[in-house]
Amino acid sequence: MQVVESKGVRIPAIGLGTMRLKDETCARIVSEALKQGYRHLDTAQMYGNEREVGEGLKASGIPREQVFVTTKVWWDKFAPGDLENSVEESLAKLGLSSVDLLLLHWPNPKIPYVDTLNALAKVKRAGLTKHVGVANNTVALLAEAVKLSPEPLVNNQIEVHPLLDQKKILAACAQHGVSVTAYCPIGRGKIDNATLDRIGAKHAKTGAQVSLRWLVQQGLIVIPGTSKEERLTENAAIFDFTLSDAEMAEIGTLAQPDGRIVSPPFAPKWDV
Ligand SMILES: NC(=O)c1ccc[n+]([C@@H]2O[C@H](COP(=O)([O-])OP(=O)(O)OC[C@H]3O[C@@H](n4cnc5c(N)ncnc54)[C@H](OP(=O)(O)O)[C@@H]3O)[C@@H](O)[C@H]2O)c1
Repeated sequence: MQVVESKGVRIPAIGLGTMRLKDETCARIVSEALKQGYRHLDTAQMYGNEREVGEGLKASGIPREQVFVTTKVWWDKFAPGDLENSVEESLAKLGLSSVDLLLLHWPNPKIPYVDTLNALAKVKRAGLTKHVGVANNTVALLAEAVKLSPEPLVNNQIEVHPLLDQKKILAACAQHGVSVTAYCPIGRGKIDNATLDRIGAKHAKTGAQVSLRWLVQQGLIVIPGTSKEERLTENAAIFDFTLSDAEMAEIGTLAQPDGRIVSPPFAPKWDV
């Protein structure tokens, strides 16, 4: 299992994104993913599936300590007190005594960052999570968070795929020693791209696998989501081939100005 290290923390380089998984499909796909060898699950309070993710983990029979579980606190729970309570609720739903990584899902400018980061540190010190991090942080937000956080931030979960240029924030994460988890790593399945397909054909891989490989080969963590068992297998089969320097560079030219997929009204002002 390939891992990405940040500040001594080892995070499996591929995880299952569970955002769209609901009810029994969620529990079944989570269990199947773990049986196939996945050792990293990504959920969030907002996904409304923490209970089913926990059920899938239990049903898989894989020992809890072998699986890296991430959840995220929704931004309306960032006030001190609310944050701690929401994490207790998440753990009750997951059926776990702690998660491996707890992230702040989106920045919330209405609550001072320092207050939220202190609350995050408090739940870590109380043993509710092993590690803490952020998500959707820009260069400026990440610098502020790293400065203010009483506990080391080990991860920034952001949108990264070949159609979006994220060089600035990736460089900032590297500078702060913060690992990056790439969400929408196959562009929500909509990267219908002749270049990725052509490169994939040379390696007997699909365009989706090339997109994922391009990310892990840069040292990023990927969390593709799928509701289909056969795609679990496809998406994990990215560690048995290598893209050449020329292929990596060519994929790096595919970024589009409108390549960003996720930008809700409460998103921060993105780096340009
Ligand atoms: N932190 C954040 O703010 C944030 C935001 C968005 C997402 N996320 C996390 O990132 C995870 C992944 O992002 P995402 O689900 O939005 O996008 P994604 O992983 O890029 O794409 C998932 C979509 O692609 C399809 N798909 C999966 N594997 C495929 C393959 N090999 N070939 C073709 N299509 C394929 C899936 O459909 P089928 O189900 O039909 O396979 C699904 O519709 C989420 O589940 C969530 O955990 C985090």
